[in-house]
Amino acid sequence: MHRISRKAFAYICLLCIIGFQGLCMQGEVTKSVFGAMPYGTEIYIFTLKESTLKARVMTYGARLVSLEVPDRNGKMADVVLGYDSLTPYTTDSKTYFGAIVGRYANRIGHGTFVLDGKRYDLPKNDGDNTLHGGTVGFDKRVWTAHEIPHGVELTLISNNGDQGFPGTLTARVRYTLSAHALKIEYFATTDANTVLNLTNHSYFNLAGEGQGNILNDVLTIPAERYTPVNAGLIPTGQLTSVAGTPFDFRTPMPVGKRIDEDNEQLHFAKGYDENFVLNHRGDGQALHDAARVLSPQTGRVLVVKTTQPGVQFYSGNFLDGTIHGKHGHVYAKHAALCLETQHFPDSPNQPQFPSTELKPGQAFHSITEYIFSTER
Ligand code: BGC
Repeated sequence: MHRISRKAFAYICLLCIIGFQGLCMQGEVTKSVFGAMPYGTEIYIFTLKESTLKARVMTYGARLVSLEVPDRNGKMADVVLGYDSLTPYTTDSKTYFGAIVGRYANRIGHGTFVLDGKRYDLPKNDGDNTLHGGTVGFDKRVWTAHEIPHGVELTLISNNGDQGFPGTLTARVRYTLSAHALKIEYFATTDANTVLNLTNHSYFNLAGEGQGNILNDVLTIPAERYTPVNAGLIPTGQLTSVAGTPFDFRTPMPVGKRIDEDNEQLHFAKGYDENFVLNHRGDGQALHDAARVLSPQTGRVLVVKTTQPGVQFYSGNFLDGTIHGKHGHVYAKHAALCLETQHFPDSPNQPQFPSTELKPGQAFHSITEYIFSTER
């Protein structure tokens, strides 16, 4: 019998360790049925697991259904609002819990815009305006999906004329998980000139969904300017300095500290619901900081980085306690906050804002990362 040399033994051990680490680091993606639409189409849910994070994404609205994150003691909690089953997602037309929002996230004034000299009319689902892509936006569509390494890729074809928008648009969204971050990548192409604004509408409560409100959370947004709105929450077109206003989050500030100040913008939206102009490098592809949130109670920290020019900070003002979410939790006003990375609202009607036009031959691509850590 041959004895293996010490050197060979050490080499085999090393290979085993590397192989074992590789297996541990590989993460896991599984697929199951979450429910079925009233007309029978099955809705699938993908579970993504990495060493310390777990996320679930479903094909209805390409929504992030849950996101489990450890606190400073390693205790896991689901930090996004939502429901336990499919049906309430399909009957809730107001919150957009966890959804990919499109074809145009945020508002388009008077539900109309002009592109290449032609006027397009959209369904008005927010007073006189169009919100989050119209009455049947991307959040209410069933996406096709398949597993990719560490994640899931979802695809939606939005036909020419869908909700009034021109051009057949193919949108693809990839959710991938790493040890400490959830990454969402957006891709889109069109066969005719159109406008596009895609975001994710997750409601975060870093103490855990259903665990009180976010007013004590400490928020930083590295933005010098924001885009003030009129009473209908449509931008006035100005880019206004945050200095001396309740919108100055350049240094860390509890969300609730100034939320009740006598400020017209805060009155219009019953709290924060404002687009911030991010200080980015302008090439459209570099990730820059959009926001940081600290939950003092649990030590959880969320840092949002994006390639997008803006972030809508919405403090859950229209949650009114009528929603019974996961585990029957009642979601009251300010039960969570949204940080929607995006182009500015109403850009198709505001030529001075960065353009949201997409043309045939162009490939839209944006990235947003949600990075988790803890503080003592
Ligand atoms: C908007 C809010 C709106 C909410 C709907 C947010 O993106 O900024 O005005 O009420 O979405 O859930």
